[in-house]
Amino acid sequence: MTFKERVFSGVQPTGNLHLGNYLGAIARFAALQDNYDCIYCVVDLHAITVWQDPAELARATREVTAAFIACGIDPKKHIIFNQSQVAEHAELAWVFNCVARMGWLNRMTQFKEKAGKDRENASVGLFAYPNLMAADILVYRGTHVPVGEDQKQHLELSRDIAQKFNNDFSASIKAHGFGETFFPLPEPLIAGPATRVMSLRDGSKKMSKSEPSDYSRINLTDDADAIAQKIRKAKTDPEPLPSEEKGLEPRPEADNLVGIYAALAAVPKAQVLAEFGGAQFSTFKSALVDLAVVKLGPLGAEMKRLVHDPVYIDSVLADGASRAQTIAADTMKAVKDIVGFIRR
Ligand code: TRP
Repeated sequence: MTFKERVFSGVQPTGNLHLGNYLGAIARFAALQDNYDCIYCVVDLHAITVWQDPAELARATREVTAAFIACGIDPKKHIIFNQSQVAEHAELAWVFNCVARMGWLNRMTQFKEKAGKDRENASVGLFAYPNLMAADILVYRGTHVPVGEDQKQHLELSRDIAQKFNNDFSASIKAHGFGETFFPLPEPLIAGPATRVMSLRDGSKKMSKSEPSDYSRINLTDDADAIAQKIRKAKTDPEPLPSEEKGLEPRPEADNLVGIYAALAAVPKAQVLAEFGGAQFSTFKSALVDLAVVKLGPLGAEMKRLVHDPVYIDSVLADGASRAQTIAADTMKAVKDIVGFIRR
């Protein structure tokens, strides 16, 4: 069976959005909209797998929505919504809780990292997190999923769940006229290393909302002054920039700044080095500040404008949720028939 190509991805509404979220996810989401039908979800159900302050969760949900819109994702042609408005995600996740095996989830490295040493005290939701993620994608029978490298293992689990469901229920799937397989096996669209943004204070760590120093990241709502200060203070080494990419290998901080420049300018790193090879960091940083302010300034301003209009944001989410639900309800109807649940 061939499935209609459909992109699905999600962003958690936790903390402020930063340059890493933009280059690694949201900008890529926007780029896919000409070639695919896209569904982009603010995954608030995933967020509460660890404690969230309720007011902060609502604020962050609107902020992610604003970022989607400000980055140019068209909420009329595509779908933008928050997960908790479409109950079918949680409903399908339950079925998947009964398809996925404990052994599979025990292998998830993200759970081990997030639960840390105190595994006994982690929420059950944190353990089952990947099953909900599979449900997010498969409730729309999504075929392509733009994610970062860190989500690759979760996506493989989604494929395993889809395959096991297709196998376990193959007779019923056929008997109900759905053909040979019901769920597609979703494929990752993994971002290349060029979109992996590292901390401005430590080139070996990912840029992250949980790093204590705000100087480690550029938030999407930072103003021009903050962007300039953070880039000027970014860690570097005393050597001038190399002229070849090979020269960046032992210099993670230099590599990161060149990578950010390349991604914002949408050119290869080699081209950046062709221009700035031999230059001092002070020169390069000034150019990077100018570029970052030009590219991120309008985006941050538009996000701020949108966040001040929660009525509009909430209307986008409600409209998106209702269109998403039409698709999701259709899938759940079929899943209920396949599993043997009596429905109204
Ligand atoms: N787990 C993803 C992350 O933390 C977010 C996410 C939830 C997601 N559901 C998804 C991503 C479905 C892709 C598809 O980045």
